[in-house]
Amino acid sequence: MIILGIETSCDETALALIETRGVATDTALPECRIIASLIHSQAELHSPYGGVFPTLAKREHGKNIVPLFHRLLEEWKADSDAENLKHVRISDDKFKETIEPFRAELEGQNPELFESFQAAEFLKDRPDIDRIAVTEGPGLEPALWVGINFARMLGQLWNIPIIPIDHMEGHIVGSLIDSELPQGKWQEPKELPIPSIALLISGGHTELIKVSTIGSYEIIGKTKDDAVGEAFDKSARLLGLPYPGGPQISKLAESAEDGGIVPTIKLPRPMMNSRDLDFSFSGLKTAVLYAVRSNSLPDGKITERFRKEMTLEFEMAVTETLDTKLRAAIEEHSASSVIIGGGVAANVRLRKAFTITAQEYGIPLFMPGRNVSGDNALMIALAATCKSQTPSRSLKAHGTKSLSSRHASRGNLGEQF
Ligand code: KG4
Ligand code: ZN
Repeated sequence: MIILGIETSCDETALALIETRGVATDTALPECRIIASLIHSQAELHSPYGGVFPTLAKREHGKNIVPLFHRLLEEWKADSDAENLKHVRISDDKFKETIEPFRAELEGQNPELFESFQAAEFLKDRPDIDRIAVTEGPGLEPALWVGINFARMLGQLWNIPIIPIDHMEGHIVGSLIDSELPQGKWQEPKELPIPSIALLISGGHTELIKVSTIGSYEIIGKTKDDAVGEAFDKSARLLGLPYPGGPQISKLAESAEDGGIVPTIKLPRPMMNSRDLDFSFSGLKTAVLYAVRSNSLPDGKITERFRKEMTLEFEMAVTETLDTKLRAAIEEHSASSVIIGGGVAANVRLRKAFTITAQEYGIPLFMPGRNVSGDNALMIALAATCKSQTPSRSLKAHGTKSLSSRHASRGNLGEQF
C-alpha cells in the first residue's frame, strides 16, 4: 500500500510517501519503506515575530504545498522501485468539475492553495496512491486547514480515501521506525514492548502517555502551563536569541560546557518533587526573566558569559525535571519500553539522559533520529498504517475541532486520542 502523508499543523509544510506490506499489529507497525519525505520550513520567516504567525503560516503553506508535492512525485519517479507509478490520466473536464466546488470556499480563505492547485498540470496524472493521511489537529487552525483542504481536493480528484491523523499520535508512531535507513530500503519495525511510556516534548505539548497498544493511549501527565519547547523558545528570546530558541539554547549550552563554564545561578526545577506526573514550565521562564533583569548591564544588555551560563543551567533544569518524571512514570506503570517524541527530542543533553534512564531500567528506548524529531509527514503517513483500512470518516469543510491558538489548540486535545 502506498500512503501519502500531509502535515501543516505549524510552520513546516511536510509531505511524505511510504510503502507498506502487511498490516500493523497491537505492538508493531507493518513492514515499510520510506519512498520520499520532504519538509519545507518557514522558521526563518517567522523568526522576526518571535513565534509562529498563523496567517503568514497559512499563506506560506498554501503557496508551497503543491510545488512540494510535485517535488515529492519527482523523487518517487527517481526511486528504483517505481513500478507503482502507473499513471491514470484525468481529463481536463473531470479536473475542472472536481475542483470548481472548492473555488468559492477557498478563494477568500486560501487563494494561494486554490490557484496553485488549479494551475498544476501534473495533477492530471494520477499515480497509484492508496491512502492520504493528513494531520487534523492539534495545531494552528488556519495552518491545519491548508493540509486538510489539499487532502480533500486531491482525494476527490484522484478518488483516494482520506485518513485524519492526530499530530501527537504521529509523534509517537514516528519514533517506532528507523528513519536513518537509506531511502527506499524495506524495514521491519521492531516490536514495541508494552505497556510503554511515551514522553512527548514539543513546542505545544509536554505529555506523558501510557501506550497500552499502538493506537490505545492514555495521558497520565501533562504540563499545567507552558510546553517545554515553548519554555525553550521564550527563554531564548529573553536571552536575545532568535526563534526557534531550542536549537540556539542547545548550541550555546554545549559551548558553555565545552568551555568549562559552571553555572552560578540556580534555576528552579518546577514540580519535580510533586507526587503526580504533571509538569510546569512557566515558572522557569519567569526565573530566567528575573535573572536577566538582575544581571543586565547599565545599557540593558547581558554578557556573553552570562548568556552561556543561563543556557546551560536552563537545559540542566529542564533535563532534570523531564527525566525525573519519566522515571516516576516508568515505575508507576511498570513500563516495558519508553518512547520519546516531538521537536525537543533533538536536544542532545535530553537524549543522553533518556538513554541512560532506559539503560538503567533495562528497557528499550524508541527515540526519533535527530533529523525527524521535529514536525514531518513521515510520522503522519506511518500513523495511518494503524488505522482501520476503510476510513470511517471523511473530513468536512468545517468539521474538525475548533482550534484557536497555538497554546489552546496544541495543549488541549483532550485526555484520550
Ligand atoms: O514537534 P515540533 O517540531 O513542533 C511542535 O509540534 O511544536 O517542536 C518544535 C519545538 C520548538 O519549541 C523548538 O524550539 C524545539 O522543538 N526544539 C528544540 C531543539 N530543536 C527543536 N528544543 C531543544 N533543543 C533542541 N535541539
Ligand atoms: Zn509536533
